[in-house]
Amino acid sequence: MTVITDKFGRPMKDLRISVIDRCNFRCTYCMPKEIFGRDFAFMPREQLLSFEEIERLAKIFIDLGVKKIRLTGGEPLLRRDLPVLIEKLTAIEGLEDIGLTTNGSLLGHMAQKLKNAGLQRVNVSLDALDAELFKSINDSGVGPERVLQGIKKAQEVGLEVKVNMVVKKGMNDQEVVPMAKYFKQLGICLRYIEFMDVGQTNGWDFTKVITKNDIYHELTKHFDLEAIDPDYVGEVAKRYRYKGTNSEVGFITSVSESFCSTCTRARIAADGKMYTCLFAADGFDFRALLRSDKSDREVRTTIMNIWSNRTDRYSDERTAESAKNKKKIEMSYIGG
Ligand code: GTP
Ligand code: 5AD
Ligand code: SF4
Ligand code: SF4
Repeated sequence: MTVITDKFGRPMKDLRISVIDRCNFRCTYCMPKEIFGRDFAFMPREQLLSFEEIERLAKIFIDLGVKKIRLTGGEPLLRRDLPVLIEKLTAIEGLEDIGLTTNGSLLGHMAQKLKNAGLQRVNVSLDALDAELFKSINDSGVGPERVLQGIKKAQEVGLEVKVNMVVKKGMNDQEVVPMAKYFKQLGICLRYIEFMDVGQTNGWDFTKVITKNDIYHELTKHFDLEAIDPDYVGEVAKRYRYKGTNSEVGFITSVSESFCSTCTRARIAADGKMYTCLFAADGFDFRALLRSDKSDREVRTTIMNIWSNRTDRYSDERTAESAKNKKKIEMSYIGG
């Protein structure tokens, strides 16, 4: 096995694979209906990488040092037969961890199949417990009960579950403490995510960000927290324990405390483009390479060249100007 590092000495260890650009939610901060409406042109099926193509790429990435794969979307559970892909990936030697990030709406009936296929972990997005508020955020009429039922089912079948909550000023500030109480009692790690300037359409600016410090301060009015050391270098979330319990809470601080210096993540979008940053403007088209007669060796060399020339550190350098004017790809396309 080879280990490749980029221009700042960061190894390539994780691969986030988006399996579909569609989602059944229209979260106002991610896929606003005005843009992702009825006539929005999603990718036709034949433009998505096939499971065989994903498997072939994953094998090459793993041979180049990737240990951890995360499947994302859009909403990955909308991809037909997803468990079949998971089975293929978990069979690859050298892969240590496979997870899925989902909005949870379809998790109830998929959890057992995902577990049987070899999935270990799910991160479920949930931005509010209040039914009307949650519906207004996802803008698709789904209430929190359905997501909570999906979470319960996932736990029952033995998947490790974490919950992701994007916190945006004026959107769901009032849910910070109720969410903490709810998931503390269930022993599920809730991670607060600072609202990020992903894509071109989510209306981001600094004034809409509630930082880790704001939330931490609010939580300490209700709970005693103690910091936990990261499990590994480059862990995305900063975690705390509710003193005297096994329950944890985390913060994903892309805006207030960027974590680019330890970023080991490569990303493949649903159409096979590889990106070396969530905030990249352009990616390399691996679908074209895979669908030509190129050998694995040539694909491998291309990945090595891309990673070894990588200089991305967008969150370290973010300014109001870059947030507004830099070309960036959409979250639902690159998968977070
Ligand atoms: P774990 O393996 O469980 O730690 O998963 P994760 O937190 O890496 O993945 P998840 O899909 O749950 O992402 C949680 C949030 O972190 C999302 O908002 C992602 O967009 C964000 N995130 C993940 N990786 C990066 C990254 O490299 N840069 C930035 N800026 N945000 C990231
Ligand atoms: N900022 C922060 N997190 C976001 N997500 C989607 N859009 C944004 C954004 N602009 C979250 C989703 C999901 C994860 C993959 O990314 O809610 O939990
Ligand atoms: Fe919401 Fe996630 Fe779907 Fe975006 S991809 S609209 S954040 S559920
Ligand atoms: Fe990695 Fe880009 Fe996120 Fe920085 S902003 S942590 S380089 S993906």
